[in-house]
Amino acid sequence: MHQLTNSHWPYPRIVAHRGAGKLAPENTLAAMRCGLEYGFHAVEFDVMLSADGVPILMHDPEFGRTIAGSGSVATSSAAQLMAMDAGSWFGPQFQGECVPSLQQVLEFCLQQRIWMNIEIKPAPGFEELTGHVVAQATRTFYAEHGASLSRAEWPLFSSFSLPALKAAQHTAPEIARGVLFERVPANWLGILQDLQALALHTNHQVLTKELAQQIKAAGYGLFCYTVNQAERARELLAWGVDGFCTDRIDQIGHDFA
Ligand code: G3P
Ligand code: MG
Repeated sequence: MHQLTNSHWPYPRIVAHRGAGKLAPENTLAAMRCGLEYGFHAVEFDVMLSADGVPILMHDPEFGRTIAGSGSVATSSAAQLMAMDAGSWFGPQFQGECVPSLQQVLEFCLQQRIWMNIEIKPAPGFEELTGHVVAQATRTFYAEHGASLSRAEWPLFSSFSLPALKAAQHTAPEIARGVLFERVPANWLGILQDLQALALHTNHQVLTKELAQQIKAAGYGLFCYTVNQAERARELLAWGVDGFCTDRIDQIGHDFA
């Protein structure tokens, strides 16, 4: 089912960013369905907590971009959020597309055999709680449904928030973790060791060939965001990058090599 690369990254190489990149409203089930139409069985999406502690898919803590109006995720209940229109901003054909819960997306992805990079995206001030709740929900789901799956089919958590990842490590140590860096700090190895992480995830624009070699030599998976040009994608793969997410699922296919 999946294209496996190596033991440091037993996951698909090309991952649809936020569901289907720029081809459908991000972080919705419509995006996941769009990704499937393009042959993608690997997805990255962002998860945040509602005011009542339910993990839902959302990138921005404040409304105004994908959700019209003003307000915030952390002060809205899950019922309120899941009734909101998360599709109209993208195009009228997506009007009424809802904010999905993590639970709905876990069910959809399991059913469709879609691998998940679950990015834990806490609203400010909710770092540890978000890591804990997302890990607990995922752990509970896979305890029930994941017994027949290989490790490569289990999801991978990632986050820019180290406290969120620490909480996820504590709550669900069996679910692999990747540490997200916008810029890779000098002490990246110590951070990965402390979190017992499987992979380092970084903005591809700050990655160099030398750093890629160091990360791979240390025995970690190496994942980049968000790679939208085929030429750059080829360069990164030649440096030893194991996988990347892309917004251009129409140009960089799931079988890109
Ligand atoms: O997980 C990779 C990427 O999604 C991180 O950035 O802002 O798109 O969530 P962002
Ligand atoms: Mg993300």
